[in-house]
Amino acid sequence: MPDMISFIDLKAQRERLKDQIDAAVIKVLDEGRYILGPEVSELETRLAEFAGAGQALSCANGTDAILIPLMAWGIGPGDAVFVPAFTFASTAEVVVLAGASPVFVDIDPDTYNMCPESLAAAIASVTEAGELTPKAVIAVDLFGQPANYPALAPIAREAGLKLVSDCAQAYGSTLDGQASLAWADALTVSFYPAKPLGGYGDGGAVLCKDEVLYAAMKSVRVHGEGTARYEYARIGLNSRLDTIQAAILLAKLSVFGDEIQMRQRVADRYRAGFGNAVKVPHVISGAQSTWAQYTIEVERRDDFRAHLAEQGVPTAIYYPIPLHLHKPYASYPVAPGGLPVTEAAAHRVLSLPMHPDMSDADVDQVIAAVAGWEN
Ligand SMILES: Cc1ncc(COP(=O)(O)O)c(C=O)c1O
Repeated sequence: MPDMISFIDLKAQRERLKDQIDAAVIKVLDEGRYILGPEVSELETRLAEFAGAGQALSCANGTDAILIPLMAWGIGPGDAVFVPAFTFASTAEVVVLAGASPVFVDIDPDTYNMCPESLAAAIASVTEAGELTPKAVIAVDLFGQPANYPALAPIAREAGLKLVSDCAQAYGSTLDGQASLAWADALTVSFYPAKPLGGYGDGGAVLCKDEVLYAAMKSVRVHGEGTARYEYARIGLNSRLDTIQAAILLAKLSVFGDEIQMRQRVADRYRAGFGNAVKVPHVISGAQSTWAQYTIEVERRDDFRAHLAEQGVPTAIYYPIPLHLHKPYASYPVAPGGLPVTEAAAHRVLSLPMHPDMSDADVDQVIAAVAGWEN
């Protein structure tokens, strides 16, 4: 039996960037400005530049990054926020934390991102029912590729809703050369270590173009602080990014563009090597994915998984149970017709090893294992 390869290899990246990162961390320790030190503002400037945004506000994690704009807009009890169910918990959790109600929307069967028709139908049905006031849409850029913003943004705009891009998995992705902020009111990022741009701990950021939103979010980030210290204008959070994490992320950001291309190379080799053996990811026209995950679909997933494990290939399932089927979320509304595409995808998807430092030999091992599967 071949040796098990890595699903994601953070050690290899650490080796590659060791000198820069160690020096950056030691500088922060020597200078002692652990909270909101100069590296934090430098990172915010660089994040905004990279995504062509007006402003970037760092925060404690990618979950708070979605919660912060909702709080800044005053979204709360009686409000509806439209979210996919085929996503990580945070996307819907923040809506409930803000006191509002998530409304679950179905996905596109090829990209797994929010389905524009299902969104339009969900907005119409919530409006007609009249119990909740539609306020915002959170589209997720799942597995690294942007949602279909050219179709989603006009639907949100026409209904007067804010549009958030939950870009936790896809910071650095583009559509027609632009970050999703070209369509969305806010773009939110996670720096969880396994994310394409990951720190060595938790971290997050929100990007936006609107000065008023930025000022309100900055206040939310530090306990709702007003114009003076210890004067509070709103209810807020303690959600700052540590200076040490900012320093690490600055070092990683300098090679991030190259790493996206390294991931793209793995994805290209997979696609060429797999042929028609499995359903390979579909990236929408004009999009650059960050390849946070390389997710395929197969029949008889459990058997296929066991076969890959025997060939030394680890796998993961994102996500085995869609959010609307979990107990804490089961009472919230779903789009008319339910979420059949979401529920089908949850039974079929499987993510394969993907990271920028994957060797040709490891990629070959995955391709051979997939090719050796007799359906
Ligand atoms: C789609 C999505 N949204 C939000 C988050 C939350 O990010 P964090 O773990 O940094 O809070 C994640 C991270 O797993 C995610 O995948």
